Amino acid sequence: MVTLRPWHDDDRPLLDRFNSPEMTAHLVGPETEEELEKRHRRYLRTDLPGRMLVICADGVAVGSIGYWENDEDADAVVWETGWSVLPEFQGRGYAGSALEALIEIVRADGRHAEIHAYPAVDNAPSNALCRRAGFSLRRTRPFAFRGTEILSNDWALAL
Ligand SMILES: CC(C)(COP(=O)(O)OP(=O)(O)OC[C@H]1O[C@@H](n2cnc3c(N)ncnc32)[C@H](O)[C@@H]1OP(=O)(O)O)[C@@H](O)C(=O)NCCC(=O)NCCS
Repeated sequence: MVTLRPWHDDDRPLLDRFNSPEMTAHLVGPETEEELEKRHRRYLRTDLPGRMLVICADGVAVGSIGYWENDEDADAVVWETGWSVLPEFQGRGYAGSALEALIEIVRADGRHAEIHAYPAVDNAPSNALCRRAGFSLRRTRPFAFRGTEILSNDWALAL
């Protein structure tokens, strides 16, 4: 059974596991220790719109999924989402179940009309996830990410 819970202070080692060349192949590559620490501190904040959540399968932390506001790319502010599942837990449908649960959370939140995801065009599992969750492919265009540009799909779901 897949559940989502808020990011905790002792979840910091998950970021190290997500930071391998394999896990960041579609995300510009690994971050520095300083960037990871900053990311961890941001994930712990409760005063920002949106949250980073830990994906648990039968109580074990297997990955993360989050939502945050994006006002750069649409007419109105939308939710943006992103996800990671540890290599040994991939291919078991955990990200798909987590995305379904996340959609319910943002729907209940009610603040924004759409949720978007911007996977790189060659990130096959992430594009499959969006399609399976009912997102529509709006367009493909270079997406500014960590100081560079990635050719990405813009998937959107009306809430
Ligand atoms: C993307 C990611 C979270 C998927 O996690 P997962 O738990 O393995 O995903 P699921 O098992 O729920 O599978 C999702 C879909 O991807 C498909 N898929 C999985 N691996 C695939 C592959 N190598 N090629 C093509 N499709 C693949 C699955 O078949 C499934 O599609 P379906 O429901 O239509 O059958 C995981 O691969 C990951 O952490 N990647 C590295 C981080 C990353 O790139 N994050 C995304 C940033 S946008």
